[in-house]
Amino acid sequence: MCGIVGYIGSKEAYPIVLNGLRRLEYRGYDSAGIALFDGAQLHLCKTKGKVNALAEKFAAQGVPQAQIGIGHTRWATHGVPNDVNSHPHTSNSGALILVHNGIIENYAALKTVLQQRGYVFHSDTDTEVLVNLIEEVKKTNNVKLGKAVQLALKEVEGAYAIAVFDQSKPNEIVVAKLGSPLAIGVGTDEFFIASDATPFIEFTNQAIYLEDHEMAVLRLGREARVRDLKKDARLDSAIQELSLNVEQIEKGGYEHFMLKEIYEQPRAILDTFRGRLLPEEGIIKLSGLENHMSRFLNAERILIVACGTSWHAGLVAEYIFEEWARIPVEVEYASEFRYRNPIINKNDVVIAISQSGETADTLAAIKLAKSHGALVYGVCNVAGSSIARETDAGSYTHAGPEIGVASTKAFTTQITILTLIALKLAKEKGSISQSVYQQHLYELQQIPQLIEEALASDATIKKIASEMVMAQHALYLGRGYNFPVALEGALKLKEISYIHAEGYPAAEMKHGPIALIDAQMPVVVVAVNSNHYDKVVSNIEEIKARKGRIIAIVTAGDSVVKGLADHVIEVPKTTEASSPLVTTIPLQLLSYHIAVMLGRNVDQPRNLAKSVTVE
Ligand code: M6R
Repeated sequence: MCGIVGYIGSKEAYPIVLNGLRRLEYRGYDSAGIALFDGAQLHLCKTKGKVNALAEKFAAQGVPQAQIGIGHTRWATHGVPNDVNSHPHTSNSGALILVHNGIIENYAALKTVLQQRGYVFHSDTDTEVLVNLIEEVKKTNNVKLGKAVQLALKEVEGAYAIAVFDQSKPNEIVVAKLGSPLAIGVGTDEFFIASDATPFIEFTNQAIYLEDHEMAVLRLGREARVRDLKKDARLDSAIQELSLNVEQIEKGGYEHFMLKEIYEQPRAILDTFRGRLLPEEGIIKLSGLENHMSRFLNAERILIVACGTSWHAGLVAEYIFEEWARIPVEVEYASEFRYRNPIINKNDVVIAISQSGETADTLAAIKLAKSHGALVYGVCNVAGSSIARETDAGSYTHAGPEIGVASTKAFTTQITILTLIALKLAKEKGSISQSVYQQHLYELQQIPQLIEEALASDATIKKIASEMVMAQHALYLGRGYNFPVALEGALKLKEISYIHAEGYPAAEMKHGPIALIDAQMPVVVVAVNSNHYDKVVSNIEEIKARKGRIIAIVTAGDSVVKGLADHVIEVPKTTEASSPLVTTIPLQLLSYHIAVMLGRNVDQPRNLAKSVTVE
């Protein structure tokens, strides 16, 4: 959580830092702040609230011309979101100024020691402790900033991505990373710093992604000096070429990123397929998987670890892997897995699913699995992310940047890549016939078009949303492959509309949730043609008998459910295994329209952040 940005060079720092913060606002939006040094004086502006509030406040106080600056957008961990707790934080002498993403776990002990040495603290943050610790180390050892950072970080337990500069030597910014992401954009005699590459993509496509336990001194007039803090050794800075472009991270005419991302799904899935799904040749190409095929084929079981929406994608994968590849699968919340002393064997394969590739619990689960000798395979969207680097191998989803906090295209592309993995394993194992395999390849190829067709129900969905908008609660039901879709539909509604919603396997309804049903309760039922269709129809009858309001997702042409439900939303026919890819679309749109009608902040719902880099 939290986003950090920095710039040093010959351009105006303010617009670069401010726009960078706007792009990183998905990482947290409790407060924001920017520090600029104009060659004579530090200009600091911090405020509770969003980056727009910061821009207004800074404009009112007067923005200086400056060629060095750092900024921060915060998701509060230590200390309530207010102006004082906002970053950047200055050291007691006022010389050092720092932004930080992460948590310093031993900050209380460090603070006590610093207080005993006369340091005074104005905020409740761990970050103010860190900047003063660096100042103290710098002073007592009489060293330069880079060395002071290096020594101070030895005292620190926790996670951090930091950028710090010294007003008395404003020709360099020092950055370091452990656990939280940090990218350095390398221009011509200028450097950009950010939690991901989006803030600097229009200026340079050359980037260095710092690894854990690395720091860099970014001094004007020379190349970035990267250092391994564990080995205390200089490293060659590995510059990567980025393939991201500005259009990918803008709204492109849509009112919200979430809506844009919902509509991008046909294109995103085509990108997931690109070069991998080759029906004419009868093959699926996944190099990450091919390099570890024997581990997968000999796996006693596959463990899937993930959080939130990614966990729901894992649940869909469980059905697909077990049905096609006949490999036992267990799906775990990463946050539970990491702390419950799980049994992990060398013959296990662990698949870690994460859009951001930065989720702290998933990262910790991966490290645990690796320490037991399991092969860990990542399914990530963000290239170069911590999880992508930490896993033994993996496949990117290639969904493109997902900015809306509510995950949409990440979910469907995760299911898509997991489907390809399962199908390829099934083929290799011989657990499905060649003809069934070939048929699945052709059917998968149709998915982007079928999602286009599902999107065409938007107007109907908007009308249904206008009725559902008054609800206080909602139930989402599905069976088999569409049980995780029900969970995901309920999560979407909760997180962006703040309406309480629960997802259940439809058959579980009579074991408790049926007591909730009355004329005020909307029940969204995924009732597409499947092995469970008749059973789901019975469940719908049970809801109707209790006067629940039924909104059903049905296969185009359905007449039975149409006769029972208050509203139906048609989706095109697919195979049962691929049905989540289309049934989830109307549920995303339904939540979106309800949230808009309620005036919610769809892209940045309260209390949330896009990547959860704290536990
Ligand atoms: O980046 P990740 O996929 O690891 O994130 C996991 C969850 O935090 C995420 O899916 C979250 O539940 C979304 N807000 C759901 O829309």
